[in-house]
Amino acid sequence: MTGFVYSEKPIQIERGEGPYLYDESGSEYLDFGASYACVPLGHSHPQVQEAITDQLDALTFVQASYPVDARDALYDRLASVAPGDIEHVWPCNSGTEANEAALKFARSATGKEKFVATMQGFHGRTMGSLSTTWKSEYREPYEPLIEDVEFVPYGDSEALDEAVDENTAGFIVEPIQGEGGINPGSSAYLQAARDITEKAGAALIADEVQTGLGRTGEMWAIEHADVVPDILTSAKGLANGLPIGATLCKEWVAEGAGPHGSTFSGGPVVCAAADATLSVIEDQDLPAHAEAMGEYFAGELDTALGETVRDIRGTGLMTGIEVKRGSNRLLRDLAIEHGVLALPAGRTVLRLLPPLTIEAEHVDRVVEAIALTMGTETEAQP
Ligand SMILES: Cc1ncc(COP(=O)(O)O)c(C=O)c1O
Repeated sequence: MTGFVYSEKPIQIERGEGPYLYDESGSEYLDFGASYACVPLGHSHPQVQEAITDQLDALTFVQASYPVDARDALYDRLASVAPGDIEHVWPCNSGTEANEAALKFARSATGKEKFVATMQGFHGRTMGSLSTTWKSEYREPYEPLIEDVEFVPYGDSEALDEAVDENTAGFIVEPIQGEGGINPGSSAYLQAARDITEKAGAALIADEVQTGLGRTGEMWAIEHADVVPDILTSAKGLANGLPIGATLCKEWVAEGAGPHGSTFSGGPVVCAAADATLSVIEDQDLPAHAEAMGEYFAGELDTALGETVRDIRGTGLMTGIEVKRGSNRLLRDLAIEHGVLALPAGRTVLRLLPPLTIEAEHVDRVVEAIALTMGTETEAQP
């Protein structure tokens, strides 16, 4: 039996610890993609492992209509770390489900139909979320999707103002586009989005699936702009490697949310893992650490790569390096020759989303590996 859909990598991973993964021969890989940003504390974090095993010993699962301590604790912690007056939580199992719920809640709470989304935006691959995802390669094989979606250029508040009308249920936006190439939204843009949606009676939906949990130097990236959205979605690293998602929202959205649900919503084991993850992020002030490490990383990259790349951009530990040719070969050489794992974002951007717990020594190793790989590329393909 073989898997399909995913292209397989020529490395068989056996275990992980901190920022490292190890293959079956014992070779070490520095995971600077944090396995799609799913392990913000690094692999097999002891506090999270302990929370999982304690919860497994007590109770693996009970449906969400029966309160359990682990879920209640997570609700309280999410409400306490959420921006402004966001205090309601709907737990689920992934980022696309968190966005699917956000879109449904926006429709039922506003009584309106249309969505506005951004060009190059990525919000997931289930039918609703996919309808607001830009890339035609992901969308076309599955069309027709939700038709009432208008895409606007990212960062253009005038275009947004024109698109959001009296029939708009919500505008969904990543504060920094991830998959689209690490494109930061300016504070002025996100503030304009807040004003425009509020004026139209539409929900502002911040997709923080990739940007959230301290990665950009604040717990949520939209906090850099001092904006409180109506709905905020989280997933990926929320349970440091177990599948989880969460749709956080304000009172008016929760009141009108409608009969949404999911069998595995709020399972005690993932809730215990998420509560432990958030507690480490808060106790160790990992947003501040991510900011400091991000600045160091950007500075070192700039010095080492300079003119050999088109651009180095990002915020905190969400870094994109735009290279002058396709990034596939570069990613392969980094992994195979230097034991450094990174991610693509589109065809020409190298995306680095390391665990928030990395130190300068890890940055140094990765910068050196990238510089060497780029040098090899130039020699091999003048
Ligand atoms: C911004 C954003 N939203 C949503 C998703 C979808 O999350 P998932 O793959 O968990 O469904 C992703 C995944 O990469 C993402 O980056």
